Amino acid sequence: MKKIIAITRGDGCGPEVVNEGIKILKIVSEFTDYDFEFNDAPAGGEVWKVFGTNLPEKSFDTIKKSDALLFGAIGLPDLPPGVAESAIMKIRQGLDLYINLRPVKLYDVLREKCPLKSEFIGKGIDITFVRENTEGLYKNIGKLGEDSAENLMVYSREGCERIIKFAFEFAKKNRHKIVTSVDKANILNTSKLWRKIFHEMSGDYSNIETEDIYIDAFTQWLIRAPHRFQTVVTGNMFGDIISDEGAFLVGSLGMGPSGNIHPGKVSMYEPIHGSAPDIAGKGIANPIGTILSVKLMFEESFHSSEIGKKIDTAVEEALLEGRTTDIKSDSLKTLTTIKMGDLISSKLKNKLKA
Ligand code: IPM
Ligand code: MG
Repeated sequence: MKKIIAITRGDGCGPEVVNEGIKILKIVSEFTDYDFEFNDAPAGGEVWKVFGTNLPEKSFDTIKKSDALLFGAIGLPDLPPGVAESAIMKIRQGLDLYINLRPVKLYDVLREKCPLKSEFIGKGIDITFVRENTEGLYKNIGKLGEDSAENLMVYSREGCERIIKFAFEFAKKNRHKIVTSVDKANILNTSKLWRKIFHEMSGDYSNIETEDIYIDAFTQWLIRAPHRFQTVVTGNMFGDIISDEGAFLVGSLGMGPSGNIHPGKVSMYEPIHGSAPDIAGKGIANPIGTILSVKLMFEESFHSSEIGKKIDTAVEEALLEGRTTDIKSDSLKTLTTIKMGDLISSKLKNKLKA
């Protein structure tokens, strides 16, 4: 099976983690029918410095002609906020990637890295955030003036319906018992519409329980009783915030993967951490967020849940032997980005051979 993968390495630690993602794809191609062609699609701050654009047309064309995009991270501290990062918005909105799928799972072996006391962790953390990815404040409707600035938050019925439907279908496929909707319907009109549509649609999924929680209350429930959540569907801005909170609960921001998805179209897979300029170039970034993004690529773009599962188990097994510094353990080897990628690759190799 030939698949064309566009590669955006990006800024900061982006290139380092993407290389480990590519390593995983190469291992898969060695032991299965997959055959990958990798095509570079540079974007971000470094590119902006050279070409005056953070997403050259050639890069976007390469992305559009691919089967999926593996994306590192973008952003540079010496550029004003947004100069590099808006490339992400151009891709998400340009390709209409309306789903941002962000699973956070606490591996048993990382329980001691969870910042919560054991009584709050309970039976564990395994939550999938389904973040709306093209509407809301992120549409950037508004203006920036000297004395005032504004952003207009707009949600359409169609935009709400398609993301909420995806969340219910995802819950059904994964046998989740409950879908939680996070909003601010006590204040925001957009949330009132969202909540109404959520309840209308829940009627089609009578086997799935539903609940609504306001965003402020949700942020405390997420640390108070994370085990009660399974699929959590929410808007663009709230999803951005709670997915970072969730990722830290499972050990480190470096563990969090994401898929920016439009089913059946070119989708983009990226770790949720940023370019991390403070550790860039040191070879210590955690590649697991990127490797688990590759797992999501197999599951969501290539419909190979079996390979996804093998990548997941390979990560879990590797964590028993060595870790990058963000999740290090005194009794285990502390590994560089490359060595961590190698360790996961060797575990994966054994699984694919079996
Ligand atoms: C994310 C990031 C982006 C976002 C930034 C870099 C624009 O934080 O993917 O979560 O806010 O969506
Ligand atoms: Mg974010």
